[in-house]
Amino acid sequence: MAERIDPWGSVLIEDYSKIIENYGMESFDEKILKKLPKPNRLMRRFVVFGHQNLERIVDAIVNKKEFAILTGIMPSSEKLHLGNKMVIEMVKYFQEHGGKAFVLVADLESLATRDISLEDAEKRALSFHIPAYIALGLDPKKTVFYFQSKNKRVRDMSVELSPRLTINEYRALYGEPSAPKIISSLTQISDILFPQFDKVKPVVVPVGPDQSPHLRATRDVVRRYKKVNFIPPSATYHKFTPSLDGSMKMSKSNPKSFISIPEDPSKVGKKLMSAKTGGCETIEEQKKKGGKPDECIVFEMFKQHLIEDDNELNDIYKSCKGGKIMCGECKKKAADLMKKFMEDFIQKFDKAKKNVDKLNILKFECE
Ligand code: TRP
Ligand code: SF4
Repeated sequence: MAERIDPWGSVLIEDYSKIIENYGMESFDEKILKKLPKPNRLMRRFVVFGHQNLERIVDAIVNKKEFAILTGIMPSSEKLHLGNKMVIEMVKYFQEHGGKAFVLVADLESLATRDISLEDAEKRALSFHIPAYIALGLDPKKTVFYFQSKNKRVRDMSVELSPRLTINEYRALYGEPSAPKIISSLTQISDILFPQFDKVKPVVVPVGPDQSPHLRATRDVVRRYKKVNFIPPSATYHKFTPSLDGSMKMSKSNPKSFISIPEDPSKVGKKLMSAKTGGCETIEEQKKKGGKPDECIVFEMFKQHLIEDDNELNDIYKSCKGGKIMCGECKKKAADLMKKFMEDFIQKFDKAKKNVDKLNILKFECE
């Protein structure tokens, strides 16, 4: 049995096939890939490694049926990371294929688990997190935003659903229960069902594997809740972006190996220049034997984030293996691309920030 995934902790994941097995996911394979119209980069390259009931979303896309996409932002630090970027790329894909997107600010979760006041959470979300999501590609015109604390229907439903999960089941899914964790989980389960409150429909939630307990809990609760015939949520799971030093997941606790969004464009390149590669000790040796792109963080950055064109990526792969390119020039290329990404992000962010007052943020009567 692998480590339990704890949404509030950090566990390294080394073997994604084990995760699929232990957590009741389906593998994201050629078969499902073929069914998705114009799959995005993360899908084509199997950075998306697992899913739940994605067939249902494929059916909605292909047959032009109504469906929704939902994701949440924790308004804690004023930094995003490359995992958030992947979530938004997935939201964007489904949005472009006819889904209605919902993005919530998890201000009750940040209040319960990080002691961030609702006022602070609101300020941060409006001045940073929401414009940042838009800068990453979310279409603001087609997105509905809400704050957990202001969504009375979500809060009421979290209370109503509370008897549908026993403490023992909770423990099996999430580890040791605590009041803040329980409140946050019930709220998140309710968030995931929110797009179905007025009318049941397929909903897809793109997440990293750390959020899988919430999806499993939601699917368990839906089965027991008889008043409404909610459709169990679908999910896609993408891999973590490895740390530049080669460990499995980027973590803020190791700033030299962590790329946050945004980051000073003039400095971010330096970090990439120090990334762990799959190169050899000497240039002579590498020319002779070739490098190992499969074990190279720089290549992983190209694959997950920096190079859109599959042919270009393949060329690098082959040139690396054939000893035709060396790590120095390769890292330089990654550094330049990352610099460009940051410049582009900052520009889009400034523009999005000026337009926050035009967003569709749900207002509720909470009194
Ligand atoms: N727990 C999520 C996080 O840590 C935030 C979140 C709240 C969320 N509700 C959600 C994510 C619903 C996806 C779907 O970032
Ligand atoms: Fe990685 Fe590029 Fe070096 Fe190959 S040449 S090991 S892809 S940095």
